[in-house]
Amino acid sequence: MREQLIFKDAAELDRAAAEKFRAAARESKDVFRVALSGGRTPIGLFSLLSDPSSGFRESIPWEKIHVFWSDERCVPPDSPESNYRSAFDALLSRVPVSPGRIHRVEAELPDPAEAARRYEATVLRELGARPRFDLIFLGLGPDGHTASLFPGSPAVREQSRLVVPVAVDQTVRSRVTFTLPLINAAARVVFLVSGADKADAVRRVFEEPPSESVPAGLVKPVSGEWIWLLDRPAASRLKI
Ligand code: 6PG
Repeated sequence: MREQLIFKDAAELDRAAAEKFRAAARESKDVFRVALSGGRTPIGLFSLLSDPSSGFRESIPWEKIHVFWSDERCVPPDSPESNYRSAFDALLSRVPVSPGRIHRVEAELPDPAEAARRYEATVLRELGARPRFDLIFLGLGPDGHTASLFPGSPAVREQSRLVVPVAVDQTVRSRVTFTLPLINAAARVVFLVSGADKADAVRRVFEEPPSESVPAGLVKPVSGEWIWLLDRPAASRLKI
């Protein structure tokens, strides 16, 4: 199922994303395995989920939840660039997720390939040999990347590994990322996209044929929900 929902602004977008998170967590039986996206966009969602006055914190079954990340920068967990740290500060330090169920990438390791190997082993241990996340959040870069699958990167073409290292140019640190096979095996993928700087990438995803030059457009769950939550500025180049 493919769904594209457009919201007035980032606050409405965050509320919609929080409702999707809550509904999916409630729907799952004993455990709910979610992979969080990185960057700045999800911070508003994290804050909403952990805000005692939002109505979400008290109504989400945190005891079921295992948390993962769809990608991570190769920095220590206390670095301001760390996706783990962003989620820990805004969400995980404020809700009762069991620490043993927070599965961060060991991105501080000197070798990104070893960090990727260990994270792939964690995913296989926690989800089994054919890992299917209940929910994967993804963001979108202005260049059409998602997770750390950048245009032209060999990681975009990876068809067997589930987690790989990404050596990016000097402007972006090395990273560890979920691959498309792992992402497309999910029961539900939710893109959270805000801001006019993403509008052209959004247009390319929806109006151009799938291509490695727009990795986000290659995300299509094989048998799962494919949901795009956009604010109006991010959707402003779409022909609607
Ligand atoms: C990362 C992300 C990346 C991000 C997009 C959007 O680690 O940076 O996983 O894919 O989602 O670049 O980033 P913003 O939300 O900061 O615009």
